[in-house]
Amino acid sequence: MASGSAIGIHDLSFATTEFVLPHTELAAHNGTEIGKYHLGIGQRSMSVAAADEDIVTLGAAAAEPVIARHGTDRIRTVVFATESSIDQAKSAGVYVHSLLGLPSATRVVELKQACYGATAALQFAIGLVHRDPEQQVLVIASDVSKYELDSPGEATQGAAAVALLVSRNPALVRIDSPSGLYTADVMDFWRPNYRDSALVDGQESIAAYLQAVEGTWKDYTEQGGHALDEFSAFCYHQPFTKMAHKAHRHLLNTSGYDTDEDDIKRAVGLTTAYNAVVGNSYTASVYLGLAALLDQADDLTGRSIGFLSYGSGSVAEFFAGQIVPGYREHLRIKEHREAIDRRTPLDHAAYRALHTRSFPADGGDHPTPAQTTGAFRLAALRGHKRIYERR
Ligand code: CAA
Repeated sequence: MASGSAIGIHDLSFATTEFVLPHTELAAHNGTEIGKYHLGIGQRSMSVAAADEDIVTLGAAAAEPVIARHGTDRIRTVVFATESSIDQAKSAGVYVHSLLGLPSATRVVELKQACYGATAALQFAIGLVHRDPEQQVLVIASDVSKYELDSPGEATQGAAAVALLVSRNPALVRIDSPSGLYTADVMDFWRPNYRDSALVDGQESIAAYLQAVEGTWKDYTEQGGHALDEFSAFCYHQPFTKMAHKAHRHLLNTSGYDTDEDDIKRAVGLTTAYNAVVGNSYTASVYLGLAALLDQADDLTGRSIGFLSYGSGSVAEFFAGQIVPGYREHLRIKEHREAIDRRTPLDHAAYRALHTRSFPADGGDHPTPAQTTGAFRLAALRGHKRIYERR
């Protein structure tokens, strides 16, 4: 099998919101038996953005430690992946570029294909580094997941951003070729431009995801990829953490393997720790899964990890990464723990007030309530322009 050049993830950092809603609060409000949330979908809490947080402030917060560690000299491209875009024309990445003081000699662009966008960004970044190995690409995946109040999707909201620095001779994960690819035109989840919350057919979306698992694996095998038992763990897109279990069970089943629950837990268990308390971070979710795995596993040096990235609509990709010797010295375990622990719990009324909040569209001067204690905030909407500030 072609292993590809040594290009991959050199650094990984994530950020999440100021607030968190425990699922116990939601269950108490809507009368759901808490076991459905804790066990049925595998979620304990979900990150909730403050009034002055959005995909830009989260993306900047995720990327800032990466810039602090590696500088900006080699970064000539920023790819911002999101499906909760704040502007139809301007890339959210340009605001981040400005907030972080990146050089003007940089190309910045936004990518979208539901939750798959970050993987497209990663693969495009690898192509750019392959073309000029001296360059690094900053990939930022940032999303705020929002469904209608009192809908089945409500329990699967969340928000986070992941920054990945893509480089040659990566310190964390070498991304291998080939990839298994799959696209199918399905309406399982979508968000028309005039809506700020997503529309979803829940059971159809699960079926479409499982179909994509099968499709990507078939193509991956045909392209000459690893055998299933060569992988030590699997990072799946996690709209809710039980989905990773469902997906892996389906992969084993359709590949003729036993679907032993302990084996499934061993393969995906560690990857769910952050997503279970952050909720669905859409395009960041699969890389939050990677962060949780790297931060918690004993030693994965030299091991192959399978990645399954799924974006409704739908596009999916299966690919392998190999964990690089010495990777543990480059992890951000303490910072990731702090990002989760620093969140302030909301009661249901406060969550609802944030959920129903929207900016007036009249072009006036609308300062935003100062809520976040993070380094970056959306200070106002003024003359239809978003005004950000750095503390
Ligand atoms: N104790 C333990 N388990 C319980 C329980 C209890 N008291 N009550 C119910 N459960 C279990 C159910 O048996 C079920 O388990 P299985 O799936 O293993 O059968 C699980 O809890 C969920 O129950 P329901 O299916 O009845 O839940 P629901 O109808 O409320 O919907 C959902 C769940 C479809 C995930 C819904 O939350 C939703 O629509 N979410 C948004 C869409 C989504 O996340 N889709 C995933 C694939 S699409 C994708 O991946 C892209 C993306 O990011 C959106």
